[in-house]
Amino acid sequence: MSIPVFKLLDGTTIPQLAFGTGTALYQKNVVEPVLAAIKANYTHIDAAQVYGNEDSVGDAIAQAGLPRDQLYVTTKVVKLDPGETVTQSIKGSLAKLKLDYVDLFLIHSPTGFEAPGRLEEVWQGLEEVKDKGLAKSIGVSNFRIKDFHRVLKIAKYKPVVNQIEFHPYVYKQLLPLLKFQEEHGILTESFGGLTPVTKKPDGPLSPVLKELAKKIGGTEVQVLLKWQEQKGIVDVTTTTKVERLNEYLGAYSLPNLSDADIKAIDDAGAKLHSRHFARHMDEL
Ligand SMILES: NC(=O)c1ccc[n+]([C@@H]2O[C@H](COP(=O)([O-])OP(=O)(O)OC[C@H]3O[C@@H](n4cnc5c(N)ncnc54)[C@H](OP(=O)(O)O)[C@@H]3O)[C@@H](O)[C@H]2O)c1
Repeated sequence: MSIPVFKLLDGTTIPQLAFGTGTALYQKNVVEPVLAAIKANYTHIDAAQVYGNEDSVGDAIAQAGLPRDQLYVTTKVVKLDPGETVTQSIKGSLAKLKLDYVDLFLIHSPTGFEAPGRLEEVWQGLEEVKDKGLAKSIGVSNFRIKDFHRVLKIAKYKPVVNQIEFHPYVYKQLLPLLKFQEEHGILTESFGGLTPVTKKPDGPLSPVLKELAKKIGGTEVQVLLKWQEQKGIVDVTTTTKVERLNEYLGAYSLPNLSDADIKAIDDAGAKLHSRHFARHMDEL
């Protein structure tokens, strides 16, 4: 089963499902898991400088031996050393990844760059990186509406994505941000998408997920993956277990959720607000 792609506002395309190298794989050597993901047909690898394992992501990509244009690689800048430019920062990542360019380069969080004028300056650094061909696309992560206002005021290129914690237990609170992003053509990428199963298994969504899993002949995790896919979200997930790679991909073969099913998930999710990352996002 091949993974569908979405179009970004700069004209490039992005695979809807990504294999992440943070959270469960944070600071770990990821050669084996990334190779397993690529072997299972994942083409989109989500990395970050702060995960401390870009080197082994690069080793896995080299060992996989695929033509470069068959892989979509993201990485993120979380901080800059005094005097360091964004170009110097991405060159450090590219050396570890053993690549000439990444497909997508993100500001990991605005919180590292809050001084007046700093976020704007860093965004202009990302624009330079794009102009130099070191990243095909540039975007952001953990951005609130107020962060977008700062960057959009000076931007030559709009961020193409915002990678945020996204699942039914934050969906209602995110609605104003999602509306803002839609108006600007900025795609949402999710992380923490499986939270209702992994971190809040006894939450108000639990009976709904069980019932829908039975209805579509899948698992609760697959119901959550379908919910995200049908909301038009790029899903960044991960696993340390090879068998889960196929479970995630198997969601594409299942019947779609109906509008009423999606509303049932939205409504049950709205009964609990539960955020596990980037708490600054509670104030949009
Ligand atoms: N931009 C940011 O600030 C940011 C923040 C966080 C994450 N991320 C990115 O997003 C990626 C994914 O984040 P995430 O881990 O929060 O995503 P997630 O999709 O919510 O969770 C993935 C985890 O779910 C577990 N899982 C799957 N099915 C399960 C089941 N039936 N029962 C119990 N556990 C189950 C897996 O555990 P096993 O390992 O046991 O399979 C896996 O580690 C990260 O690796 C990173 O690339 C970005």
